[in-house]
Amino acid sequence: MKTNKVILAMCCALFSMTAFAKAPAKPAAKASNVIRVKAPVRPAGQSDVLQLTAAPLPVVRVAFVGLGMRGPGAVERMTHIEGVEIVALCDVLEKNVKKVNERLVAKGLPAAQEFYGDTEVWKQVTKLPNVDLVYIATDWAHHAPVALQAMKDGKHAAIEVPSALNMEDIWSLINTSEKTRKHCIPLENCVYDFFELTTLNMVQQGLLGEVIHGEGAYIHGLQPYWNQYWDNWRMKYNEAHRGDLYPTHGLGPVCMAMNIHRGDKLNYLVSVDTRAIGNPKFIKEKGDGHDAKDFRNGDHTSTLIGTEKGRSILIEHDVTSPRPYNRMYQLTGTKGFVNKYPVEGIALDGGDIDPEVAGNHENLTAHRFLPAEVQKALLKKYTHPIAKDIEEKAKTVGGHGGMDFIMDYRLIYCLQRGLPLDMDVYDLAEWCAVIPLSELSLDNNSAPVEIPDFTRGGWDKLDGLKFAQ
Ligand SMILES: NC(=O)c1ccc[n+]([C@@H]2O[C@H](COP(=O)([O-])OP(=O)(O)OC[C@H]3O[C@@H](n4cnc5c(N)ncnc54)[C@H](O)[C@@H]3O)[C@@H](O)[C@H]2O)c1
Repeated sequence: MKTNKVILAMCCALFSMTAFAKAPAKPAAKASNVIRVKAPVRPAGQSDVLQLTAAPLPVVRVAFVGLGMRGPGAVERMTHIEGVEIVALCDVLEKNVKKVNERLVAKGLPAAQEFYGDTEVWKQVTKLPNVDLVYIATDWAHHAPVALQAMKDGKHAAIEVPSALNMEDIWSLINTSEKTRKHCIPLENCVYDFFELTTLNMVQQGLLGEVIHGEGAYIHGLQPYWNQYWDNWRMKYNEAHRGDLYPTHGLGPVCMAMNIHRGDKLNYLVSVDTRAIGNPKFIKEKGDGHDAKDFRNGDHTSTLIGTEKGRSILIEHDVTSPRPYNRMYQLTGTKGFVNKYPVEGIALDGGDIDPEVAGNHENLTAHRFLPAEVQKALLKKYTHPIAKDIEEKAKTVGGHGGMDFIMDYRLIYCLQRGLPLDMDVYDLAEWCAVIPLSELSLDNNSAPVEIPDFTRGGWDKLDGLKFAQ
């Protein structure tokens, strides 16, 4: 009986859905209490790359740079996409290149050209005349230099996350993409996870009302991997830098649901971190044993972001504590709420409140997720069209459960048809800027730091996020 009432209430909520309303502007944080960072003016003769299109590439010829733990999986996924030719493989280490090439040949595919030997060898790859896309999965420090040269050499650039580490590189990527009219896309796979895609569709259909708050995180103990990174690059970066060093998995899906630079923009952030305990201990006991007494990255970093339209976002980073993997992913809307970790759940306005207990303030179970069967039906009904098209194949090919394949598939789909990509260089900038800007906030006693408008005036030109079809 109670379940019937709940379903009835939920149906009412569905019928009363309203379109995603445009919120009134909220004044930005006052100039006096915000740290401002330099935002270069757009060079003369250059225009933005919102909805950038390029000539269709029926066959996309891809060169891969960086074949450590992550890169080989990307090569493998691309072998499952029609109209892709893998023409070059590059890594500092010969064995990494040979191993991946052997796999290509074993699959009956032509061997790719090989490049290895040092950290500059990629310069021969970006110059190749027979490459359309350079797919970069190196350590973080090499992301921007390879991508910048790739665009200058006439190639599109796809960069693993985080794609850039400092404001100078972020602005250079923007300016180079704007100047060369080449795509520069962050390889943010988490926006394509099934729950994220489905709930994005719910947001775009108005089911949650207006999304006013979002949360995201990268909470992942990296102890099994620390000693496997090439040249220990990741621990070294954590040792040298405070701040949220891996914000894009958490921020990407939330920004998409909030139409960031497609009707709203990130205005400022403040960060708070804890002491660094876990990673210095790891270094001493299981790493190279050096005394990391000045280790900069706190065990847990929290960053709050305010948007132009009065929304808030909480992003967390923790790569050492003994916690289950968690990307958080929560959206709070005026008519509903979705939550991914640790358990997926959907709540809708009114639909979750049992009228018999709603008046009792002591009863904290009155507000709860919709019954499991209703949630299941909603997830089915709102399955994102992209997931509907490719879900089965994505789950077979895999890559974090399928989302990595959807990311690569969408990239190639859009390039083949000359469509705008799902993510652009401004997404890259907004999501990656949290790295240097959270560090700036932390080094200034958690002062608010302005997040520049990377579109330089274009953030309100587009009416919401749309994936091209
Ligand atoms: N999106 C995701 O879910 C996800 C998951 C894992 C890693 N990543 C990202 O992928 C990237 C690679 O991570 P990883 O775990 O494979 O690290 P890794 O250390 O295992 O691999 C990096 C590889 O890059 C190579 N390399 C370094 N400098 C180079 C250069 N100048 N030219 C050519 N090759 C170079 C190294 O030899 C190494 O093989 C990182 O940016 C990481 O953040 C993303």
